[in-house]
Amino acid sequence: MERVPTGIDELDVKLSGGYPKGKAILVTGMPGAGKTIFGIHFLYKACMDGRRCVDIATEESPEDILVQAGMLGLDLRPYLDNKQLAIERVLETRTESTEMASQLGFGFETTEMDLLERAKMLSDDIDVVVIDNIGVFALDLNIKEFRDKIDAINHALTEKGCTTLMIMDDTAYELTHGLAEYSAYGSIKLMTKENPYTGVRERYLDIPKMRGTKLSLELSVFDITSEGIKLHKSKPKTD
Ligand SMILES: Nc1ncnc2c1ncn2[C@@H]1O[C@H](COP(=O)(O)OP(=O)(O)O)[C@@H](O)[C@H]1O
Ligand SMILES: [Mg+2]
Repeated sequence: MERVPTGIDELDVKLSGGYPKGKAILVTGMPGAGKTIFGIHFLYKACMDGRRCVDIATEESPEDILVQAGMLGLDLRPYLDNKQLAIERVLETRTESTEMASQLGFGFETTEMDLLERAKMLSDDIDVVVIDNIGVFALDLNIKEFRDKIDAINHALTEKGCTTLMIMDDTAYELTHGLAEYSAYGSIKLMTKENPYTGVRERYLDIPKMRGTKLSLELSVFDITSEGIKLHKSKPKTD
């Protein structure tokens, strides 16, 4: 299976070279777990490798994403300038959100459409898509509608051959009973918890599922440094 590098070297090693090409991977975690930075690594690496990328942001402004990326030495601006990367703020079609967006006066184009429509309209030459955070779409839908929508978005992106990170906050993930995990080709969980031996809180990365990939069921410890996410040596899985 062809792989697309994740932008995090040690993670590429764990995933036999990277994310399975043309598939959608779910990334979940609590606020502050590192999800957005995780997505930035992927976009930056894909841009460096000449891939065409779209970042669909439902929470942060594109400017915030550029600033965060820049602070980690992952400067995305040149790729925005040469149009290899588009960062779009996609809002739900609810009028409140739209009004709020115009009041806040985002400097970037704000797309008032739903995510499925946007996925279907992506140009065929897009290689990589990051959606951050797909959880906002869970809030207005019942479980059945949510599952159907996630499946349809997945299908649309897979048809176009996009390698996709679907980032979802833990609250929305739990609210929808973890259904997104069934739809996705793979699942990566970011979390923080106390190391039982040292009492120190640490960041962990867990890969419970990655189809087509030989996986070790070990948690990886990672840090977020001034250069972004750095994975440590693996540790035995607890729980
Ligand atoms: N330069 C940095 N050095 C160390 N930690 C950082 C740095 N930049 C961001 N962080 C950490 O990353 C966390 C945010 O990561 P983020 O990807 O935005 O989380 P999420 O999207 O899961 O809410 C912050 O809470 C902060 O602790
Ligand atoms: Mg985030």
